[in-house]
Amino acid sequence: MLERKTDGKSNLVVLFKEGKLMSYPFSSKDYLESYRDFFKVAEKRFAIFIIRGMSKYRGDGVFTGGFRWNGSNFVRHHGRIAARVVYNKGRLVADGGAHWAIINVSELHRISRYKDLTHKIFPKLMKRGYRIYSRPQFLRALKKIQSQKAVFKPVDGFAGQGIIIKEKDKLMTSLRRFNGLLEEFIDTSQGVPGLTPSYHDVRMTIMDGKLVQCYIRVPRHGSLLANVARGGSLHEFSPRRLPRTARHIANLVDKRFKKYGHRVYSVDVGYEGSKPFLFEINDQPGVPHKKWERFYREWHATLLGVLLAADRDLR
Ligand SMILES: Nc1ncnc2c1ncn2[C@@H]1O[C@H](COP(=O)(O)OP(=O)(O)O)[C@@H](O)[C@H]1O
Ligand SMILES: [Mg+2]
Repeated sequence: MLERKTDGKSNLVVLFKEGKLMSYPFSSKDYLESYRDFFKVAEKRFAIFIIRGMSKYRGDGVFTGGFRWNGSNFVRHHGRIAARVVYNKGRLVADGGAHWAIINVSELHRISRYKDLTHKIFPKLMKRGYRIYSRPQFLRALKKIQSQKAVFKPVDGFAGQGIIIKEKDKLMTSLRRFNGLLEEFIDTSQGVPGLTPSYHDVRMTIMDGKLVQCYIRVPRHGSLLANVARGGSLHEFSPRRLPRTARHIANLVDKRFKKYGHRVYSVDVGYEGSKPFLFEINDQPGVPHKKWERFYREWHATLLGVLLAADRDLR
């Protein structure tokens, strides 16, 4: 049988997308600092390995070509690494097995990665969305859109990339392709009572059903995209200030996700007047920056708790 421990500690693989060791997210000073602080806590319970990209995956939770966290740095690891727990920050679509676990399992990963699937699973929480591939499909879907503006987005995009929001009759000329998702516009211009006066995206990060972080992102002036990568500003706030109606959406999502076992994801909503709508689910929420302070330690500790629980559940 494969040895999935090192020096008596379970092997934890943190899998990132293809790249060099110091590529994104480590290329960001804030992310690197947060991961290092997380590893300093987690190393007491896990032997920690970093893997870059799916090309290093050998099946059955086994990887090659990784790096070991040695307590203060990352050093190249020669030979195979058999994980007991994989924290998937890359594109691994897997469910684990009798002797290894993955956060998150394939189904949860797919539902949040592919936004047409999110619509299919949570139609009541979202405004209408149509999967389109061609110009005729675009035109047919556009007719069904009730809002003045419409939103085109890639099916598995991130950081606001490729998203176009325009008046319905002006949208087509801005598109470079028709393969994507056409969504009704959620008009968040009225803000969230007590939180923000205008356009926004409210994020709730959930780990094994527990709300561990909430923040609001506000697009920069003149933009409708709240992503920080698009110039949006980010403000963490106390869960006590989170409207019950937003919490309710997160609860409904978690009710559906509970069957997938140990889980880490975030739920993003926007208020149109008093009604929140789901923007998207992200199954790889970014680690918090130290300077945000509010949820930093708790976020790390709760994530570690989820990974430990996944390890414990194994034989
Ligand atoms: N249907 C929509 N109505 C209004 N604004 C939207 C809609 N979809 C996305 N947005 C805006 O675009 C941003 C990014 O969209 P999102 O679906 O979260 O994609 P990404 O995965 O790229 O972050 C949101 O934070 C929001 O500001
Ligand atoms: Mg988003």
